[in-house]
Amino acid sequence: MADRDDPFGANDPPARRGSLVIVGTGILTVGQMTTEAVAWIKRADKVLYLVADPIAEGMVRQLNPAGAQSLVDTYVLEKDRTDAYGGMVDRVLACLRAGDLTCAAFYGHPGVFVSPAHEMIRRARAEGFAARMLPGISAEDCLFADLGVDPGIHGCQSFEATDFVLNRRSVDTSSAVVLWQIGVFGFATHKQGNYALPAMPILIEKLERIYGAQHPMYLYDAAVLPGCQPIIRQIVASQLISEPLSAAYTLYIPPARAAEPDMDAYNRMIALNQAYQEENKE
Ligand SMILES: C[S@@+](CC[C@H](N)C(=O)[O-])C[C@H]1O[C@@H](n2cnc3c(N)ncnc32)[C@H](O)[C@@H]1O
Repeated sequence: MADRDDPFGANDPPARRGSLVIVGTGILTVGQMTTEAVAWIKRADKVLYLVADPIAEGMVRQLNPAGAQSLVDTYVLEKDRTDAYGGMVDRVLACLRAGDLTCAAFYGHPGVFVSPAHEMIRRARAEGFAARMLPGISAEDCLFADLGVDPGIHGCQSFEATDFVLNRRSVDTSSAVVLWQIGVFGFATHKQGNYALPAMPILIEKLERIYGAQHPMYLYDAAVLPGCQPIIRQIVASQLISEPLSAAYTLYIPPARAAEPDMDAYNRMIALNQAYQEENKE
């Protein structure tokens, strides 16, 4: 391994002693935590973690009993989630300033729908610390496996559900759509348990406008605990109001129409490839 204060083997040594590695613990932590995430959790002086279940928490604490600290207390009930994010960033920066090799661990992929993780990297680098994020297994990765969907076939657009509505996101209905955070639609505040979702009719209206009332969609909850199966429920948009939704649910919407081939682009591609082969004949 590289020097302790330059854990990423960078040629330019960082200006300051502390360094930051951000890792993901996967969704089903037992089996989805990568070997490099395990190595960094073990090696760090401090491991600040935010995970979604007690088994994941137990694993992080077992890997680093002396350095593990939960970030869950940065959340305050009924307060904006972004307030908690600021607290998480401050906690990580304080460890770096103390010179610690600091590991921040988030469930899933640490850079997918985890804005404080990106902010930690930005602030750490701005202050002269080495900082790097490692990839993890996200809920979307699990969804592709459990629903048997290959994003390479039709393409796939991912949106945060509330952002999808508030920012007038447009979709290409020949590709699939993944809507994250469907179970907290319309809320920026932190709550415990399932959210009441009074604003859901706004999302339903938009989905029915795009897809019609009968297009099948899938509520998806990946297995988090060993031995459990994923929950996959086929619905139509209007059922988003009657189905119980947990904060962990993701909505998958399959394509609604065939793609329109661009024959002009196809013919140009063939011609350019042929011309290249002609020019580069041995
Ligand atoms: C704050 S984001 C965290 C995402 C996480 N970093 C990842 O890589 O999957 C929370 C959202 O992720 C999705 N999610 C988290 N756990 C899930 C699960 N077990 N099954 C399906 N989706 C999940 C849901 O859309 C949920 O609202």
